[in-house]
Amino acid sequence: MDLTVTIAGVKFPSCLMNASGALCVTAEELTGLGRSRSGAIVTKSMTVEPREGNPEPRYHPFAGGSINSMGLPNLGYRAYAELIPALKQFGKPLIASVAGLCEDDFPAIAKVINGAAPDLIEVNLSCPNIPGKPQIGYDAEASERLIKRVRPLITVPMGVKLPPYFDPAHHELMGSVIARCGVDFLNLINSVGNGLFVNPDNETVVIKPKGGFGGLGGTIIKPVALANVRAFYKYFKGRMPIIGTGGVVQGVDAFEHLLCGASAVQVGTALVEEGVQVFARLEKELAACLEQRGYKSAEDCRGKLKEL
Ligand code: SIN
Repeated sequence: MDLTVTIAGVKFPSCLMNASGALCVTAEELTGLGRSRSGAIVTKSMTVEPREGNPEPRYHPFAGGSINSMGLPNLGYRAYAELIPALKQFGKPLIASVAGLCEDDFPAIAKVINGAAPDLIEVNLSCPNIPGKPQIGYDAEASERLIKRVRPLITVPMGVKLPPYFDPAHHELMGSVIARCGVDFLNLINSVGNGLFVNPDNETVVIKPKGGFGGLGGTIIKPVALANVRAFYKYFKGRMPIIGTGGVVQGVDAFEHLLCGASAVQVGTALVEEGVQVFARLEKELAACLEQRGYKSAEDCRGKLKEL
């Protein structure tokens, strides 16, 4: 089965890859992704300075998903700029994920990281876990200002990673922003921010930062992720490449993302829980899913969701 895909002119050997945040902080983890069957190496979202991240416990898996408030632990953009040339030798696309603690951080990082020549750059407008810093993607004006500042500094395909939206008015508002800013691809969605998981036995929250509030991932967020993929796929009439992220645990989940209009999918919670072997399993399951339904390739079923 042909699971290769092309996004913004960049060819991926497989449409299954890691989500930023999952096993992609250190040089060892990134090398592990390079050696795995992941279709790309996506870095942890990087900030100007290295960060330890939020206090632990800050990740908690549960039946049906996970909650995290990692707080952008990362090596800082200078370290990732140095690692990129070696990571590119694995012969698969390298996606550098850029974050920031204030608006000025994004252009500062984008300029240097672009110089390290990743294959694509993802601008993360949606981290829900930095205390006192709202998700930029929920502020359309700030998003537009920021994307317009980084766009001229980036010469490789540039995407944005958005938070989930829950109303068509917000899909349309952000769609119009994206359309004005020269964005080459979308990554939908980041975790569903500021959920709260409670342990009723000891009557506590399960993660320490932000009083237990954190980003939800895994199976429970799949319908939200699919809805966002579908809404933006339709807004852009299938012309905007979309990476679907959220709830990919089985091959059929990836298939659903493709049907809704994703060109590729990213794996977060399932990768953390299972390790990089998850890609071989998902590949097999997705291939079987496509074959059973008579598709010849992953690209073949993109956007083919039937409405009633
Ligand atoms: C985190 O590091 O807290 C998660 C990053 C993100 O959701 O963008």
